[in-house]
Amino acid sequence: MTDPDARMPAGFARDGEGRLLIAGRPAEAWVADAGDTPLFVYDMGLVRSRIAAVRGAMPPGVRLHYAVKANPMPDLLAALAPLVDGFDVASEGELGRALAAGMPAPAISFAGPGKRDRELAAAIRAGAILSLESAGEAARTLAIARSLGRRAAVLLRVNPPFELRGSGMRMGGGARPFGVDAADAPAVLATLADPAFDFAGFHVFAGSQNLDWAAIADAQAATVDLVGRLAGAAPGPVRLVNLGGGFGVPYFPAERPLDLAAVGAALAETLRARPAILGPSIFALELGRYLVAEAGVYLTRVVDRKRSGGTLFLVTDGGLHHQLAASGNFGSAVRRNYPLVNASRSRGPVETANVVGCLCTPLDRLGDAVALPETAVGDLVAVFLAGAYGRTASPEAFLGHPPAAERLADPVRGAGTGP
Ligand SMILES: Cc1ncc(COP(=O)(O)O)c(C=O)c1O
Repeated sequence: MTDPDARMPAGFARDGEGRLLIAGRPAEAWVADAGDTPLFVYDMGLVRSRIAAVRGAMPPGVRLHYAVKANPMPDLLAALAPLVDGFDVASEGELGRALAAGMPAPAISFAGPGKRDRELAAAIRAGAILSLESAGEAARTLAIARSLGRRAAVLLRVNPPFELRGSGMRMGGGARPFGVDAADAPAVLATLADPAFDFAGFHVFAGSQNLDWAAIADAQAATVDLVGRLAGAAPGPVRLVNLGGGFGVPYFPAERPLDLAAVGAALAETLRARPAILGPSIFALELGRYLVAEAGVYLTRVVDRKRSGGTLFLVTDGGLHHQLAASGNFGSAVRRNYPLVNASRSRGPVETANVVGCLCTPLDRLGDAVALPETAVGDLVAVFLAGAYGRTASPEAFLGHPPAAERLADPVRGAGTGP
């Protein structure tokens, strides 16, 4: 019979009684601390190790930015701020969280289509860098900067004529709402010569959730080549090139972790051979899920155990309203199980169960036909890979259940914290 813990990610363990340990503490203790289930716990020790691994593998001088959209929990951002070189934000709300976490404004870049005038103004006032997504957005930014009597620090986001092959989410190549098409970039760059702009460089984001080092390396090389060709039309030196990211994590059994060392070696070679015009430029990677996804666990309690049509259902107090991605409804074409275990016990006869949430929709599935030790009402279920695109990427208000709590387990900054 399948080992029910076979897919438990590295960094998690059981105690002598078979209880799941998160950052060395039983899952049940985290729940007691938070007051109730459902609960997200993020192990900052695992995030720190991941950051160290990325820093160790990438060429010296390459900056590491965190994409706040992956997980904007305030305590997590405060812990991350001193560990990375910048935050990338996608809204005025995320900008506020990044500043509140202590990230200096010039190290914050704000990308995303459809920035409203008040968002452009907030970024200019704060002194953050705007990643301009269109000619229209450049024109609105210019007008707002002039009216505020401030310079707007800007990157031009370019929609590259290539994609990041094999990405979970394609963000470049072809018609996209993101960035200015490479062919149109020179015309927009000409408008950035106005003294109300402080031109900082370029931003290219070609895709995300990619496990193929060679595809990432090719996209980085193509990005450096593209930016090198556009740099001649830029209104000033290219100080910063944001190469995007796309580093993926293995969610499913057939997936293998990204070969970080191979990405780093290829990037070193790309940068060594970069065009002379980019000689003094600084290069940055913006990573979201790669830094935090595997450090997070979603804990939910079994409230009912029932059979229907011969199938055992374990009904929990959580579901897709907190952890949409695990239900398979956040960008997945085919639903597959995230790793999931019984956090209260590891021993006993193994049974096969469908673990579902408490919402009245057949979409609310956390695990189909999962092998678990015989599970009782009251047991905790842990769904892994919950550190990115969890709580804030889920329809929390749907059906009016309470929101999930969140805790940051941080051995460096003290015990668990959270609202
Ligand atoms: C511009 C931009 N930056 C960063 C990210 C973060 O991607 P990931 O969490 O996969 O690293 C995204 C994701 O869509 C993005 O659109």
